[in-house]
Parts: sequence; structure tokens; C-alpha cells
Amino acid sequence: MVESSAADFLPPARTLESLRAAAQRCRGCDLYRNATQAVMGEGPARARLVLVGEQPGNQEDRQGRPFVGPAGKLLDRALAEAGFARSDAYLTNAVKHFKWRPRGRLRIHARPDAREIRACRPWFEAELEAIEPDAVVALGATAAQALFGPSARVTVQRGRVFASPWARCSAMTVHPSALLRIPEEEERHRAFAELVRDLKAVKRALESAAPKVISRTAPTRKAARARRS
Ligand code: URA
Ligand code: SF4
Repeated sequence: MVESSAADFLPPARTLESLRAAAQRCRGCDLYRNATQAVMGEGPARARLVLVGEQPGNQEDRQGRPFVGPAGKLLDRALAEAGFARSDAYLTNAVKHFKWRPRGRLRIHARPDAREIRACRPWFEAELEAIEPDAVVALGATAAQALFGPSARVTVQRGRVFASPWARCSAMTVHPSALLRIPEEEERHRAFAELVRDLKAVKRALESAAPKVISRTAPTRKAARARRS
């Protein structure tokens, strides 16, 4: 039997809007059963930077938008410190439905398993193909392995920028949720600084690999200053 996946639910024309609509009908695995809705990515269709998390959390599931809960707030701060505006980035997840288990009246995050991650791949692949970003950053092991293969190791490879089929500047770093679980404040600050450092490496790579604009008519400011003096 062929394993079911999101592939059977992809729309023929794949724009971000058509993908978003189609994902609501996805039955590629069982996770849709206990979730409120599929949470697709959000951000400009021409975003140069795409960030991929694991799966929507409790608040994302209710609001239908990625990274709007506590992890998202932390990610916003890290992006800002690294010199990115959240509004310039497209944020999405490897898995589109919230997987959870009850604890009392709370809904606690549960890890998507390998089959669910595999089943959901067509969605983020289609998002990346529609956007064609210059940079893609996997947040945490689930996204890193979904994007870059099972041998991806965040602890070893974090902050390195490499070319992948998804983007010329590809990288992985820790998931912001992992930072929220660090009880010790000093350690949490250090982890935050490391997340910012990784994002800055991506920013630098993006900028240094940008095509140089060499004007033949306008002198550079430095050259103009030299000529005046
Ligand atoms: N964690 C994620 O990986 N994605 C979200 O959208 C929110 C929390
Ligand atoms: Fe489809 Fe992904 Fe939801 Fe599974 S988690 S039903 S593959 S959208």
C-alpha cells in the first residue's frame, strides 16, 4: 500500500493562497483529527528569508497563524536583534497541524513522528518552491531533518551557512521553544545570544553573496570625497 501523504491534496496551481486553502482539506496523516485547523506559513510571497519551525503550538492552532505564541515572540526579538524584520520573513512549519496530548485541561505539545513529518513535507516544499527564497533557516531538529535530511545535526551544524536545494544561504539553529524551557536565566540569555549569532551569520551570508552593484557613472562616496579634498 502506498503511504498516504499531503501529496494527494496539493492544488494543481501552487500559489501561497491556493496552498493555504488546500491545506485545510488535507488528510495526509491523522493529525488533522485533533487540531483546529491547518496552520500554513505567513509572510510576503517574495520573502528573501524563510524560517521553518516544527509545528504549530496551542495558540497557533487556535489563531491559524504560525509563531504567534510565546516561541514566536521570542523569535521576533531574535530576528530584530539580528537585523531582520519579521515582516520581511516568511514563517512556516514542517508539520501543519498541531499534535498534542491532554494534561488536565491543557493541550501539551507532542512530537510529530517520522511518518507524520514525511506525510507533511509536500506543503513546506511547495511553499519554498513558490517563494524561492535566498535564505532558509531550519529551527530545531525536526525542521533541520525535514529540510536537509536525516543526518542533519543542529548541535554540530548550527550557524553554518551552506547552499541547499532550497536556498543559496541555508542554515539551521535551535528552536525558540527550546529556549523557553531553560529554567536558569543566565543560561537562557546565553542561548538567546547564540540564536541571534546564528541568525546574524545568515544575514551576513545574504549580504556578502548579494550581487555587487558597480555603477559606472556615480562615483563611490569615498572616491568623491577623495576627489574633493
Ligand atoms: N513552534 C513552532 O515550531 N511553530 C510555531 O508556529 C509555533 C511554535
Ligand atoms: Fe496533512 Fe500535514 Fe495535517 Fe498531516 S499534519 S493532515 S500531512 S497538513
